[in-house]
Amino acid sequence: METKQNVAVFGAYGHTGRFVVAELCERGYVPLLLGRDPARLRAQAEPGLRAREASAEDPASLDRALDGAAAVINCAGPFAATAGPVIEAALRAGIPYVDVAAELEANLDTFTDFAERAAGTLVVPAMAFYGGLGDLLVTTAMGGWTAADEVHIAYGLSSWHPTAGTLASGVVSDRRRGGRRVRFTGGRLEYHDGARPTLEWSFPAPLGPQNVFGEFTMADAVTVPSHLDVPEVRTYMTVKAAADLSAPGARPPAAVDGRGRSAQTFVVDVLVRSGDEERRIAATGQDIYAITAPLAVEAVERILTGRTKATGVASAGAAFDAFDFLRSLSAHLSLDVPTRGFG
Ligand SMILES: NC(=O)c1ccc[n+]([C@@H]2O[C@H](COP(=O)([O-])OP(=O)(O)OC[C@H]3O[C@@H](n4cnc5c(N)ncnc54)[C@H](OP(=O)(O)O)[C@@H]3O)[C@@H](O)[C@H]2O)c1
Repeated sequence: METKQNVAVFGAYGHTGRFVVAELCERGYVPLLLGRDPARLRAQAEPGLRAREASAEDPASLDRALDGAAAVINCAGPFAATAGPVIEAALRAGIPYVDVAAELEANLDTFTDFAERAAGTLVVPAMAFYGGLGDLLVTTAMGGWTAADEVHIAYGLSSWHPTAGTLASGVVSDRRRGGRRVRFTGGRLEYHDGARPTLEWSFPAPLGPQNVFGEFTMADAVTVPSHLDVPEVRTYMTVKAAADLSAPGARPPAAVDGRGRSAQTFVVDVLVRSGDEERRIAATGQDIYAITAPLAVEAVERILTGRTKATGVASAGAAFDAFDFLRSLSAHLSLDVPTRGFG
């Protein structure tokens, strides 16, 4: 395969970073492995892969690490500590930045802090399962609509064995929220102390009706309203998966196939409503961490080949042709698209 550009991966030896590095290699890119632990970098570096030590607290180390990179993918979370410094370094290097942050406060900071300064390049936060996939599905379901009354995103996860990074990011988000809960309603994020609702959501067959928690608010509550005029963005999570996540001593994901994917399956079921009209789309796949890699790397590939719709800070749905993007991931995602079509 023809050798393409170097793409830096900050947090390369983390669980998600490893999937991203493998996806870059598969597509003929040369990953630059970046992280703060030289021993773990050395252990990951195979012949032909270059590893560079870099710390979010040391801007000069980031500048050295990004030298010669065409783009950077940030997989090091909690992102409250890493997104700002790595974006700053990407701007100094004049290269695009993509991250996989699921912390909606960190995503908001990215939009707020870099909207103007990133105008000459592209910064895509939450280019991952949470925040990115939902936004691509919503944007596709909207078709030509730029506004809707309600957006519903239901996550049908068979289980959720979280990584250390997921748990640490949850702790940081919880602290930033002062232990309060958050939902997107009335056109804004609202922090409150109310109880989390439970209800039944009818997923497409074969999953069918499942008990879900309402207001399981994820990064989509930032990415979707960043470019679509929707006052209500409601997200749901299967009760079983939410219970796995919060169980004491939750186990990390265990690989069951040659790609390193776990047995976890997911359905992301999206419904948008405007007046009396409803539009739906769903995506099915395996392992929320593994699917994040083709999402982030496809984003980088489109940026590097000029297939973008935006500059500055933009979510997946704003930056790319959403339906085309989703269809390009057919090796990883099955789409359930109603026959009436979109666009
Ligand atoms: N939006 C989504 O759908 C989605 C999907 C996948 C992952 N994520 C997010 O991605 C992050 C990583 O997840 P993971 O599954 O890869 O977790 P992980 O296996 O625990 O890896 C975490 C990685 O982040 C690095 N890191 C953490 N804090 C750092 C800091 N201050 N400076 C430099 N490196 C730092 C760690 O390096 P050290 O070992 O040196 O600390 C490690 O490489 C989490 O925030 C997770 O929520 C989001």
